[in-house]
Amino acid sequence: MSPVLRQLTPTAGARILGLGSRQPEQVVTNADIAARGVDTTDEWIRARVGIERRRFARADESVVDMAADAGSKALADAGLAPSDIDAVLVATCTMPSFIPNAAGQTADRIGVHAAAAFDINAACAGFCYGLGTASDMIRAGSARHVLVIGAEKLSDWVDPMDRSTCIIFADGAGAAVVGPVGDGDRPGIGPIAAGSAGDLVDTIVVSDRNSFIRQDGREVYRWAITKIAPVALRALELARVAPADVDVLVPHQANLRIVEAIAKRIRAAGAPEDMVVADDIIHSGNTSSASIPLALDHMRAEGRVRSGDLALLVGFGAGLSYASQVVVLP
Ligand code: UT7
Repeated sequence: MSPVLRQLTPTAGARILGLGSRQPEQVVTNADIAARGVDTTDEWIRARVGIERRRFARADESVVDMAADAGSKALADAGLAPSDIDAVLVATCTMPSFIPNAAGQTADRIGVHAAAAFDINAACAGFCYGLGTASDMIRAGSARHVLVIGAEKLSDWVDPMDRSTCIIFADGAGAAVVGPVGDGDRPGIGPIAAGSAGDLVDTIVVSDRNSFIRQDGREVYRWAITKIAPVALRALELARVAPADVDVLVPHQANLRIVEAIAKRIRAAGAPEDMVVADDIIHSGNTSSASIPLALDHMRAEGRVRSGDLALLVGFGAGLSYASQVVVLP
């Protein structure tokens, strides 16, 4: 008979202990894009997407550079040392090459040695998948502290003259340190509500390593405004949280009209009228897996959210993939 495999002692749950973010220096306005010869206007972009400006990384600034900076800041915010981290997860879909992955290099840069390190490619849902994985690792006892980072350099993958993508996508990184709750404390990360829509796989595609991102914007838009609010409501149900108790809604910053459509449905289900809704896209653009942690970090710096607030996160994008969970803000 085979031996019984010992299982590690599970913990009571996990929570976010610290946040950090990194944006490139270079600010690109809508007027800057039009000035490049792209057939668009500031008015169209503001009205249809909500973006006023975004950031593009320099040619020599990489996904790993941004991830390491955001990760270091999250560690400092959590009051932890690199040696406290057992695993580094980097959610990204814009590495210039897939070998080696981003997570190992990022861990090394931060000074986290010999930790588990792997990338997650669930595009714009990647940060929520990372947070769910980190929470489950900690609950199962296989890690104590996990650094979860969303980092993207979408400017490398966008045709600078394609007006359906070059106006939306941008660069940046956001990070969270996840750790166990103390004895008797309540968990600060709810169960993940996640899934995929493989029938729509062709709507956002990079067909080979020499191609740019192509997106059927209308189709993705229709999907996002109909299918994503129910995913977020399912995350509330799984965590046994009433919509009325949600302080902050942080949808992936894909398009301000999508954000507003999701917020409308969450409010119609009972969320408060004064629920804070992330609108970081206005100044940051769509940074895929980085958009949720970037928005959280910015909202905290602006004093729009407080420690202890209940935030409903929902990511969605290429795959198509989606994931949502409720978290208590650090
Ligand atoms: O983050 C990953 C997930 N991605 C998303 O969630 C993106 C979802 N989709 C969107 O956000 C929107 O569909 C876009 C922002 C991509 C496009 O906005 P839209 O309101 O859906 O525009 P549309 O594609 O329906 O195009 C409307 C019109 C078209 O002209 P005609 O055919 O009506 O004459 C487009 O050619 O607007 C035109 N157009 C533009 N005009 C000025 C498309 N892009 C532009 C532009 N500037 N940049």
